[in-house]
Amino acid sequence: MLVTLCYSCKDNTSPGYEYMPDMYRTPPIETYAEHTIEGYDGIPVEGTIARGKLSSFKYDGTTEGYLIAGEESTYPDSIYKVDLGGKVKSIPFKNNQKTLEEGEKLYGIFCAHCHGINGEGDGSVTHPAYSAVPAYNDSEKIRPRANIPMSELKEGHIYHAITYGLNAMGPHASLLNEEERWKVVLYIQEKLQNYGK
Ligand code: HEC
Repeated sequence: MLVTLCYSCKDNTSPGYEYMPDMYRTPPIETYAEHTIEGYDGIPVEGTIARGKLSSFKYDGTTEGYLIAGEESTYPDSIYKVDLGGKVKSIPFKNNQKTLEEGEKLYGIFCAHCHGINGEGDGSVTHPAYSAVPAYNDSEKIRPRANIPMSELKEGHIYHAITYGLNAMGPHASLLNEEERWKVVLYIQEKLQNYGK
């Protein structure tokens, strides 16, 4: 007791003896600074998109942007993940059951209530504002912007529609990151545009 008293009287501003100073003051790691994760060189694997980063989709929300996106924009080659040990793992995007399953899940959460679980435009939302939800497998009715039917929309068209919305359909850019959007697009193209055919 005596020792503690004397010690604390010495200097009011001193934190006293610190056993593990790193726990009191975390050493800051600056953005873009050199890191010390072994085995990871910090450069994304070619053709991949970092998780949560909007990077490759450079088209604006106009009809022109939509049409160019339909012509040029396509799926990422692969997704890369860095584990806690700093190891980089790259998995292909297309022809990947897991990507497709995640797309299905996201579609169920973000789109099915309007577009219907099988994409036939028969979701549970019945408000008149959403009375004209098109069916993805409609191969006859020509869409206004792309000038082709729903069943032929390219991945870039669908991705653009998710990002910016269209009329009564709001933009979903703040709800789904880039990787998630491409997963939904993949699910629509693989399973819904040809649903029942
Ligand atoms: C609130 C209801 C609603 C939600 C939620 C919704 N949509 Fe839509 N979507 C619509 C309506 C309505 C249209 C038709 C718009 C029009 O033609 O004016 C549409 C049109 C589309 C089109 C056609 C666009 C084009 O280029 O012609 C695509 C593709 C599409 N939606 C995909 C999606 C996807 C994918 C999701 C989920 C991420 C989604 N939508 C969520 C209501 C919705």
